[in-house]
Amino acid sequence: MEVLKNQTWLLLFLFCFLILCKANQIDNLNKLLESRRSNNPPWADSWSIEELDDDRNPHYSPVYVGLQDGLMEADKIDALPGQPEGVDFNQYGGYVTVDPKAGKSLFYYFVESPQDSATKPLVLWLNGGPGCSSLGYGAMIELGPFRVNSDGKTLFRNEYAWNNVANVIFLESPAGVGFSYSNNTADYTNSGDKRTAEDSYTFLVNWLERFPQYKTRDFFITGESYAGHYVPQLAYTILSKNKNTNQTVINLKGIAIGNAWIDDENGIKGMYDYFWTRALNSDETNAGINKHCNFANDNLSSTCAQYMVQGARELGIIDIYNIYAPLCKSSALKSSSSAGSVKDYDPCSEIYVNSYLNLAEVQTAFHAKSTNWSSCSRLGWTDSPTTILPTIQQLIASGIRVWIYSGDMDGRVPVTSSRYSINRLNLSVETAWHPWYSSGEVGGYVVGYKGMTFSTVRGAGHMVPTNQPERALTMISAFLQEKLPPSS
Ligand SMILES: *[C@@H]1O[C@H](CO)[C@@H](O)[C@H](O)[C@H]1NC(C)=O
Ligand SMILES: *[C@@H]1O[C@H](CO)[C@@H](O)[C@H](O)[C@H]1NC(C)=O
Ligand SMILES: *[C@@H]1O[C@H](CO)[C@@H](O)[C@H](O)[C@H]1NC(C)=O
Ligand SMILES: *[C@@H]1O[C@H](CO)[C@@H](O)[C@H](O)[C@H]1NC(C)=O
Ligand SMILES: *[C@@H]1O[C@H](CO)[C@@H](O)[C@H](O)[C@H]1NC(C)=O
Repeated sequence: MEVLKNQTWLLLFLFCFLILCKANQIDNLNKLLESRRSNNPPWADSWSIEELDDDRNPHYSPVYVGLQDGLMEADKIDALPGQPEGVDFNQYGGYVTVDPKAGKSLFYYFVESPQDSATKPLVLWLNGGPGCSSLGYGAMIELGPFRVNSDGKTLFRNEYAWNNVANVIFLESPAGVGFSYSNNTADYTNSGDKRTAEDSYTFLVNWLERFPQYKTRDFFITGESYAGHYVPQLAYTILSKNKNTNQTVINLKGIAIGNAWIDDENGIKGMYDYFWTRALNSDETNAGINKHCNFANDNLSSTCAQYMVQGARELGIIDIYNIYAPLCKSSALKSSSSAGSVKDYDPCSEIYVNSYLNLAEVQTAFHAKSTNWSSCSRLGWTDSPTTILPTIQQLIASGIRVWIYSGDMDGRVPVTSSRYSINRLNLSVETAWHPWYSSGEVGGYVVGYKGMTFSTVRGAGHMVPTNQPERALTMISAFLQEKLPPSS
């Protein structure tokens, strides 16, 4: 049988054409997987080697800390153009330099909670890609306080925004994404998981100098998709650097990752099984893939490749990130629009956000550099482990709260991929699988493992808070309070 080397990733990339997908978070992942297989760099790296309970701390390096005096006040946003009346919380936007020599600076948008912000935790949100914007997706389409109207110019309020229960930072990461930049453009071709974690850590230390009232606040990291890499790696970096007692200690309490890419082999296997169990693929394709594809191996047979292409064709033109959702049929903005509602899912929202974030007055209001903003950028990616499970295992062992959640209508990093990956951790079940409720309906299902919680969100796609804003808020509130979501 002929062996095709490095074909899996090309085939996954094919999905993009078959499904007419927009520039989206996982398309960049496809490109990454494709390129890294063909370059074959050394994956085995040190994420899982250093023991967090080892006090010797072999990785001491002082972090760059710039002068932050007065910058918090300077970053305060008066108002965003087109924002609705009655905005009752503080918003900030600006840059934090993470490497003064290169001139590398990361852009953040920070929203405080309208009520009792001083008693609420601090949450960082990261989108994935790699190369996609936490401002354009996380803040403006998912869990932020505003969404963009179909005119591309005005905003409406998201009543289920996560700043109801936390103070939330959206970080454009790494440099080259969204408004974040570097004056040394080589930084765009040398991106990777390690650099992203280091720079995000430096960002946090400096940001906490700028907002010192948050220094000792309970801190959580959340994110989705390829942030299944970023979030555990940043958490690991923080725990490791916290051991430098003369450096800022970040009060990390937990992480939550949604539809997270955490293990290549189980990710792909779970995707094809999902296609079959959701009646998107035929029995023949499923049987062929099970028989001929070994996703643990880089070299897939040509027979396997044929079944993968067949599987992609059988899907038809659907939004693979939200398999039952309508498609965006027109890229035009709508001039006379009434204000939108988070309860009405609009598949064209990315177009409105793209328009809004490219308005000069919007960039000025955010304190962003004048930029041709785009939701995802193609960056050169030099390192990306094939699995994050060892890192997650270390976080569990360190005792921080670890939640994995999954919108159960996502076909790209589906619930099966998460379950197969989690099963590899061999965790014992402490609280059996059971439904949880939000507004009198089953919001999803949850299972409590020893050291980790897994929750589904019923009826949500890849971007959970976009499709199920109320359920997402119920779930994340429970996470922050160290409870399971309500079981009645
Ligand atoms: C990047 O270069 C511009 C133009 O020289 C400069 O204004 C800016 O401060 C530099 N950015 C950083 C982070 O040093
Ligand atoms: C912090 O620790 C490092 C490494 O031990 C040391 O080189 C540095 O001088 C210390 N800085 C301060 C301010 O104590
Ligand atoms: C994949 O194929 C290449 C070239 O045929 C071979 O050198 C390599 O050992 C194979 N890898 C695996 C994991 O089978
Ligand atoms: C945006 O792109 C246009 C067209 O490529 C270019 O002329 C312009 O200088 C760019 N603006 C910025 C701020 O980079
Ligand atoms: C889980 O159990 C299997 C079978 O006993 C074993 O091969 C594997 O190494 C275990 N994995 C972990 C992460 O402990």
